[in-house]
Amino acid sequence: MPDSIEDLGWLFVLEPERGGLERQIYRQVLGAILDRRLATGTRLPATRVLAARLGVSRGTVVAAFDQLVAEGYLTARTGRGTAVAALPEELLRAPGESRGSSRRIPSLSRRAADFARARTRGGLEPRCFQSGMPSIDDFPRKEWARCLAARARTIRAADLTYDNGAGLPILREAIVMYLNRARGVVAHPDQVVVIPSSQAGFAVAALCVADPGDVIAMEDPGYHNARTLFVGAGAKVAPVPVDEEGIDVAALAAVSGFRLVAVTPSHQYPTGVTMSLERRLRLLDLASARGAFVLEDDYDSEFRYAERPIASLQGLDGGRNVIYMGTFSKSLAPGIRCAYLVLPESLAPAMALAAPGIGNVVSGPVQAALADFINEGYLTAHVGRMRSIYAEKSRILSETLEDSLPEGCTVPTPRGGLQLLVRLPDRADDVAICTSLAAIGIDARPLSALSVNAGGQGLFLGFALPRPEEIAPAARRLAEVVARHLREAR
Ligand SMILES: Cc1ncc(COP(=O)(O)O)c(C=O)c1O
Repeated sequence: MPDSIEDLGWLFVLEPERGGLERQIYRQVLGAILDRRLATGTRLPATRVLAARLGVSRGTVVAAFDQLVAEGYLTARTGRGTAVAALPEELLRAPGESRGSSRRIPSLSRRAADFARARTRGGLEPRCFQSGMPSIDDFPRKEWARCLAARARTIRAADLTYDNGAGLPILREAIVMYLNRARGVVAHPDQVVVIPSSQAGFAVAALCVADPGDVIAMEDPGYHNARTLFVGAGAKVAPVPVDEEGIDVAALAAVSGFRLVAVTPSHQYPTGVTMSLERRLRLLDLASARGAFVLEDDYDSEFRYAERPIASLQGLDGGRNVIYMGTFSKSLAPGIRCAYLVLPESLAPAMALAAPGIGNVVSGPVQAALADFINEGYLTAHVGRMRSIYAEKSRILSETLEDSLPEGCTVPTPRGGLQLLVRLPDRADDVAICTSLAAIGIDARPLSALSVNAGGQGLFLGFALPRPEEIAPAARRLAEVVARHLREAR
């Protein structure tokens, strides 16, 4: 290879119609260096000569060469022109060969596999009976747009900085007032930390309360995503059975050294049970005696159809041992990406630093708009409207299933929330049934996949997302699939 090239024109296939000529020259010289068509030390033609040869301006060639000099691929010396720099041999690749042929593909952690497993369901398209979803058709676009547009214009400079990582004061105050009225939560705004989702809340709570190897107890059956996050944080998860009064506190008492117990007292996920007052008091006593925290996941408590919502554990406890968690994912929409923790005073300073410290922050304008949305009464009005829409949807689903499911299946009367659990006879294979349902566009979660030790087969169905008129036909199709599976399992 010559140590100087008078005409580098052979190297280039420029496509002027695609624009970005400087970038094209840069890429092609770089490619030639990396695959050794231009050897170390080779002097390149003068930029003026090359520009004329390529039919581009001299400035374009100079800019491309300057970039290659800045990145260390070329050296430029006054009076000696531009030459290919000396690069370590192992960084250069043979023509047609990918760099570093002996390279090993990095493997993922076991946690990554757990997350993938926990998150692969649901798909991109909302599907009929998808659990966890509110009605997107009813999202209050007009009111939300008004609040967001106003805040996009008027957001304070301070709310666009790194300050207020734990949440804008205006939203923390609005949340405290809303929760006090709606859920009997008692707290100061400093005890509120705004986070993007309950998922973030599970992770931050686990990180701040449990060291690797510590025990976190949770309901069985229970919220699978919480379990994945606790395990991801290095905790040992202890599953505790649930009965018709909620978590079995006697069984929890047998778990030694638990640092945190995660519960869904308003509407147990997935059984739908409401924790009785006696259980609540026993749970709080036990947590206090053991010096443990209770994580109260109040994800859909706004929606009670039969009677008034039951006051929160946090209110009962006076905010000593309870970490209260709520989300706008159900009361508004998951895509808003906003949830909150109300912390015991002892935990608030650490978690107010930890949550933003690991990147769990919510956009300032969205927070300010949400505060206005709450303060102007739109949230209460929306929740009130949705309560009657969801009550009607749940009635259609439970009545249709009651009429069409085969004997041996139990359909509860939904008292709240956005989903219900249909129990199937033990001979059923709920995973196989859900696979058959997915093939006809119906999303159901198998109860067995939400359980660690708890027995039982069932289908967990969300009724909030589909339109009212879609529910009965889909429920009948679901019942046919269940009936077919049960006939085959006889
Ligand atoms: C038990 C439970 N907790 C919390 C959430 C809310 O999660 P996020 O706020 O991350 O949307 C859900 C959503 O499905 C849930 O089922």
